[in-house]
Amino acid sequence: MIYPIILYGDPILKKPSEDIVPGSLDVKTLSDDMFQTMYQASGVGLAAPQIGKNLRMFVIDSTPMDEDEGNEGFKRVFINPTIVGFEEEEQAFEEGCLSIPGVRADVVRPTKIKIKYFDENWQEHIDLLEGLPARIVQHEYDHIEGILFTDHVKGLKKRLIKSKLNNISKGQFEANYKVKIPAKILKK
Ligand code: NI
Repeated sequence: MIYPIILYGDPILKKPSEDIVPGSLDVKTLSDDMFQTMYQASGVGLAAPQIGKNLRMFVIDSTPMDEDEGNEGFKRVFINPTIVGFEEEEQAFEEGCLSIPGVRADVVRPTKIKIKYFDENWQEHIDLLEGLPARIVQHEYDHIEGILFTDHVKGLKKRLIKSKLNNISKGQFEANYKVKIPAKILKK
């Protein structure tokens, strides 16, 4: 099932998510649906709040970006994750987000992280990630904390993207994938 993607301006994206209680929902079906939703939108990561579910879960498949650099794709489901360690070294990298169509900006993040999580079979993992997987995981992890990549953009650059962000919340954007039109716009 392909879900419509929740867009910037919807309060769901700003709300911190809750842990999933094992057995309370079918995480395998949900992860399959999240991958399908992400692929039809040509994304490399998707977090549950982006499909309207405030749950601590996200999926990642970096294959489309890795192929450009000749790396092997990183595909994984993260449930109830906790980032338990960060490398001090940081790097800037241009990010975008399926919930914020048409906006891209450099975000500075640690280059390496250590993360504890469950997969879709409820197997626990502790992974040390670097490079592109570390970058995408931190972006998606922010989503389940109610943080968007644009929240990290400050100063002049923030002022430059502000009008684009306002336009998205007013329903003025272009996206070639299924999105949820905010209720306040439909009422007009
Ligand atoms: Ni995003």
